[in-house]
Amino acid sequence: MERTLIILKPDAIQRGIAGEIITRIERKGLKIVAMKMETVSQEKAKYHYDEHREKPFFQELIGFITRSPVILMVVEGIDAIKTARKMSGATQIADAIPGTIRGDYAMHTSVNLIHTSDGPAGAEREINNFFKKEEIVEYKLDSQKWLYPSSVLDK
Ligand SMILES: Nc1ncnc2c1ncn2[C@@H]1O[C@H](COP(=O)(O)OP(=O)(O)OP(=O)(O)O)[C@@H](O)[C@H]1O
Ligand SMILES: [Mg+2]
Repeated sequence: MERTLIILKPDAIQRGIAGEIITRIERKGLKIVAMKMETVSQEKAKYHYDEHREKPFFQELIGFITRSPVILMVVEGIDAIKTARKMSGATQIADAIPGTIRGDYAMHTSVNLIHTSDGPAGAEREINNFFKKEEIVEYKLDSQKWLYPSSVLDK
């Protein structure tokens, strides 16, 4: 099982489609193990997007993610990182195909509704930036026995 950080960005909340996005995540079968709302601080935003510090769009990116509250989630599943990225859609909005969250609901690369971690190291770093260990909830999701074969769950 893998964990990834999902951020429903300020536009998702302001446009009233956070619920629809959460529904897609639930329906896919990703297990939500942490969720909270907060206004991201400048400090956390800069740490989160550190890899983009030198990019021309960095200021806009920080301005956008700190502009209004976000919903932060940690989700779990087999290949959760890749799965969440596939569901989000391509970074360049013109390449985000219908059926993906960005492809269905977003109009611009800078205003693109959702963040998902891009690999295991990034996921761990990003989850630790926003969540304390005790905020991640351990529980059994009964539907998992209808989402994975028993050979996987019995491991
Ligand atoms: N060329 C660009 N012009 C404007 N904004 C951009 C551009 N490239 C990326 N961004 C913004 O920076 C964010 C981070 O870029 P990154 O390359 O990590 O894309 P991503 O992994 O698809 O998105 P995220 O990290 O938010 O999940 C993107 O979500 C987007 O909002
Ligand atoms: Mg990224």
